[in-house]
Amino acid sequence: MTPGLESEIVDQDAYQRNQARLHELGLQLPLIAELADPPNRLSAKALDIADADPDGPDPRNLFRVHWHNGPDRKALSDIPGHIVLDEDLTGVPAKIVVALGNRFPMIDTHKVLAAYGCLIPRLMSGAFDITRHRAVWPSTGNYCRGGVAVAKLLGCRSIAVLPEGMSQERFSWLEEWVTDPSDIYRTPGTESNVKEIYDACHALAKDPENLILNQFAEYGNYIIHRTVTGPALQRIADKLSADGLTARAYVSASGSAGTLAAGDHLKQALGTHTCVVEALECPTLLYNGYGEHNIQGIGDKHVPLIHNVMGSDFAIGVSDSACDALNLVFNTTAGRAYLAEHKGLGQETIAGLANFGLSAIANILGAIKYAKYNALGANDMVLTVATDGAAMYGSEMAHAQDKYFAGKFSEIEAAESFGRHMLGAAIDHTIELTRFDRERIFNLGYYTWVEQQGTSLEDFDRRRDQSFWDGLLDLVPVWDGMITQFNG
Ligand SMILES: Cc1ncc(COP(=O)(O)O)c(C=O)c1O
Repeated sequence: MTPGLESEIVDQDAYQRNQARLHELGLQLPLIAELADPPNRLSAKALDIADADPDGPDPRNLFRVHWHNGPDRKALSDIPGHIVLDEDLTGVPAKIVVALGNRFPMIDTHKVLAAYGCLIPRLMSGAFDITRHRAVWPSTGNYCRGGVAVAKLLGCRSIAVLPEGMSQERFSWLEEWVTDPSDIYRTPGTESNVKEIYDACHALAKDPENLILNQFAEYGNYIIHRTVTGPALQRIADKLSADGLTARAYVSASGSAGTLAAGDHLKQALGTHTCVVEALECPTLLYNGYGEHNIQGIGDKHVPLIHNVMGSDFAIGVSDSACDALNLVFNTTAGRAYLAEHKGLGQETIAGLANFGLSAIANILGAIKYAKYNALGANDMVLTVATDGAAMYGSEMAHAQDKYFAGKFSEIEAAESFGRHMLGAAIDHTIELTRFDRERIFNLGYYTWVEQQGTSLEDFDRRRDQSFWDGLLDLVPVWDGMITQFNG
């Protein structure tokens, strides 16, 4: 059985220890079907847990690991939090619709959902033993925070593995949440140094007490996003379709490619294109390229195992300098004054921009490029996500100001940045993927997974076929059955 795809108990003793621990803590686990449909499945629960602190290590927060949290991150909303960006901001007539990831509990990003999805099969099958194992979360910062949060609720130790060059906000959060400072494992480099993370994991895996939950290869990450994020985005699209808008595409920058899995749901439900954004400074999918960049969370210099490459329709490159500069426009006094006084944006719109972290800005630019390439009109919409908000990148603003603007960011620099990067976003580095392009990208993954990480050729190749990805969904009712039994 492929690890991570367990469909039955593999270690009865560990299973019983897990169950005993969670019963001792009085802890229940949410079903995937509940997280996928909170308005129908979790409304009573939301009232029950209304007093739980969304930022604290309260196990009831597990029932908030979905897209339907209201602005206070406690109450349930019928439609997931989202922002519709108009032409006055984006320069394109099509609406860019951004779902808000910073309403997820504890870590203010949806990566806690990926962590839960990866842990479920191991925990339910006893492959992971809460009383013995440490969960190891290889990441560029947000997934490991999600993993540490979930593990803390379950009362088990975990190790966050992430590059030392990630934003200070990520480390500050981790320092507060880990059991011991040595549970933060810093690897060399920055965002695109994932090979170094894998090397660290191989070393950690030598200790049988460590269980590696590699989001780049765990199908639980794909399954939970397709099942939970996909329908959440569809509910937003359905609401907006009542205003006459038609969803044309789903745009998501790829880190582990988990979030991208929602594209497979949306393609089947709404007929959208699936577009992968990556950093131009590390154009792995676009040009088999490599490099350093600062769009934290994405573009990790390889093709993740759980990326359904053959189901992807566009690859779109966005520069990290554009994201860094627009982060300054959206979040400095000078930038906001420029947007209010010269672009006529209202205070509510401007305040909403703080919901966009660096990769969210990349997604928005990718959506604009897609809209321009396809000459979309005012009745079209492009769906995307803000994985996290600007709060995760306060410390990056000073670096960007020094790097690009000699330390000074006034309204003049804001105007230059907005004109150049937002209104001037062009259709360069945008590839409408042909079958040959897809195969080129798919085959590139061979070197990471088969040659380097020991994936069997058969397991690698079966991912060419859409039926493989669709077949993964059969596990959802199985896992939910296991959770029900476990909770019982
Ligand atoms: C800020 C941010 N954006 C985007 C991503 C990419 O999401 P995914 O790993 O689901 O592809 C991540 C992943 O950790 C992230 O932290």
